[in-house]
Amino acid sequence: MKLLRDKVQQDGIVLSNQVLKVDSFLNHQMDPVLMQEIGKEFASRFAAENITKVLTIESSGIAPAIMTALEIKVPLIFARKQKSLTLRDDIFTEKVYSFTKQETNEITVSKKFMDASDHVLIIDDFLANGEAAFGLARVVEQAGASVAGIGIAIEKAFQPGGAKLKEAGYRLESLVRIAGLEDGEVQFAEADEVVTP
Ligand code: G4P
Repeated sequence: MKLLRDKVQQDGIVLSNQVLKVDSFLNHQMDPVLMQEIGKEFASRFAAENITKVLTIESSGIAPAIMTALEIKVPLIFARKQKSLTLRDDIFTEKVYSFTKQETNEITVSKKFMDASDHVLIIDDFLANGEAAFGLARVVEQAGASVAGIGIAIEKAFQPGGAKLKEAGYRLESLVRIAGLEDGEVQFAEADEVVTP
């Protein structure tokens, strides 16, 4: 997606070989016009699916996910993160380990909002090791619902999440794929060389 790729190129800050800072438009200050375009792009890529819910994880996934849900005209659910949890019957819970933050969060979704009739599109801002996406997919599967696919704004293709999700059989749509962050520069993956307007 050209708009997002240009934004990453112009405003992304390479913090290290592993981490790209995008807090001026994606995960602190947010660009609403860009978010709207991201929502349209995901809605169009998954138009053939009969999606009933969009699912993301707080906090930075919420903006691209609400715009996607708005386009598809279905509800958005965001999984909540908490450090520890008193077990309760009315929520789905899964453990998600973050390599970036070196912490495990329990993610929770109320059973009220998802059931076996749902076909769920998972959206997130970043894909690195895939832990968050797999955790969300496990929540969907706990509910007996089906995963329509996984839409990611920025995939760090040099980390294993994308390959693992595809290997597990999920349809993955990443709007921008980053091949590397060497020498303080963003290298885009080849698939993004052919850009759509
Ligand atoms: P994974 O889910 O793919 O395994 O990724 P990982 O655990 O490594 O990432 C955990 C958090 O770090 C996620 O945010 C993810 O969005 C963020 N993240 C990963 N790589 C980068 C990066 O290169 N740049 C930036 N800016 N963020 C990155 P989170 O825990 O869900 O936090 P939140 O910001 O959504 O609240």
